[in-house]
Amino acid sequence: MPAYETILTEIQGRVGLIRLNRPRALNALNSVMVSEIMAALEAFDADDSIGAIVLTGNERAFAAGADIKEMSQASAVEMLTNGYIDTFDRIRSIKKPVIAAVSGWCLGGGNELAMSCDMVVASESARFGQPEVNLGVIPGAGGTQRLTRAVGKVLAMEIVLNDRRLTAQEALQFGLVNRVVPVERYLEEALELAQQIAARAPLAVRFGKEAVNHAFETSLSDGLADERRAFYFCFASEDQKEGMQAFLEKRAPVWKGQ
Ligand code: CAA
Repeated sequence: MPAYETILTEIQGRVGLIRLNRPRALNALNSVMVSEIMAALEAFDADDSIGAIVLTGNERAFAAGADIKEMSQASAVEMLTNGYIDTFDRIRSIKKPVIAAVSGWCLGGGNELAMSCDMVVASESARFGQPEVNLGVIPGAGGTQRLTRAVGKVLAMEIVLNDRRLTAQEALQFGLVNRVVPVERYLEEALELAQQIAARAPLAVRFGKEAVNHAFETSLSDGLADERRAFYFCFASEDQKEGMQAFLEKRAPVWKGQ
């Protein structure tokens, strides 16, 4: 792993952990940090010893949004050409499951980053919002689209148009997070979830992630057809033979990812 300036990375078992590390700026996402997050995600994705990835901040902030200092003087053309927003799109190409472990502020680009992950474990102190309207802009990294798909139109309108902030419990109620746990446990809980998934059949996890994501992109009939092709393809894997044989022999399967 290369040395990063704005994030810390480590490997725990089969899980790659990325910590956003600009605590004095509440992990505001400057362009270096966004590039480094994507580089670390891509490095873990390419590493066969890693089965899942956890992305976290610290107790006070997952991330308080894009770095306002950095973008305050930008022109429209600079925003278009500097690649900052485009970098967020690369998270969609990560094949392994990515779990956000969120505590404290999760605002603007921070919430967009969390919503780009596959699952979210929140601490009781997590606060979610899209406060861009206060800055004279709208969310630019998926905030209007992923949020609306998760929480529905009327609540998304209130969040985007009037800076409504959600508590962790509200985020759970509206389907933005998987679970809410005490602050002392949120990272541990996310790591445990990641270790469990990382211990499962790698190809089935990969195809399952792809298929669920596809549900947001396509018609039901196209989604079902794609799901079926992936399901049939599983039968070309050694893991399918092993998984079903192990069930019949009443033993634990040994996955090869082949
Ligand atoms: N960008 C740059 N710096 C930020 C920041 C941000 N998004 N959020 C916080 N900081 C900095 C503050 O400037 C402050 O730095 P200094 O000590 O050097 O002054 C430090 O972090 C601590 O922040 P506060 O003193 O404001 O802490 P607080 O506890 O009083 O308030 C907060 C916390 C409510 C999160 C407040 O900091 C805040 O409102 N931040 C901005 C949130 C925001 O508007 N996010 C959207 C950004 S735009 C975006 O994300 C666009 C997109 O779609 C990609």
